[in-house]
Amino acid sequence: MDFYKIISAGYDGLYGEEQKIKIEIIRRNFNINNNDILLDVGCGTGLSSDFSCKVVGIDPSISLIRQNNNKNKILAIAENMPFKDNSFDKVISITSMHNFEGIEKSIREIKRVGKRDFAFSILKKSGKFDLIEKEIQNNFIVKKMLDGKKDWIFICKA
Ligand SMILES: C[S@@+](CC[C@H](N)C(=O)[O-])C[C@H]1O[C@@H](n2cnc3c(N)ncnc32)[C@H](O)[C@@H]1O
Repeated sequence: MDFYKIISAGYDGLYGEEQKIKIEIIRRNFNINNNDILLDVGCGTGLSSDFSCKVVGIDPSISLIRQNNNKNKILAIAENMPFKDNSFDKVISITSMHNFEGIEKSIREIKRVGKRDFAFSILKKSGKFDLIEKEIQNNFIVKKMLDGKKDWIFICKA
């Protein structure tokens, strides 16, 4: 978490372009309806929350969340989310899961709060990649695995 505190002011400048590419891939492969409610897990400054529907974002980094202009932002962790079961039409997590301490627990939580559609963008070079992929495959039906340059992007159904 300290890493994001240190780079928070420059986060969008450093990562904006590469994150936009991943989000565009998800937009193209993820049928978003304007009346959907989408949860962005590990939303940071809100770069990854750029969708046409209502977006709720959660993140535990105060410094990143302070820069996030989404009015529906919540300080929380993926491992224990303050939402009822089946609250969201769509759940995404973009280049965030390798930061989660409890991979199995957070994936269980994501599945619990989501209804049907999920998209995960996972950093290829992360040492946790294989564990995250295994948990995604165990918990969801993977419809597509797309190349997002630094990430693999999983488009999934419950
Ligand atoms: C590389 S940033 C990605 C932020 C955003 N999704 C984007 O695409 O710009 C990783 C994010 O994961 C968040 N994070 C770290 N641990 C987390 C946890 N346990 N639950 C939810 N988010 C977490 C960090 O605070 C950070 O905002």
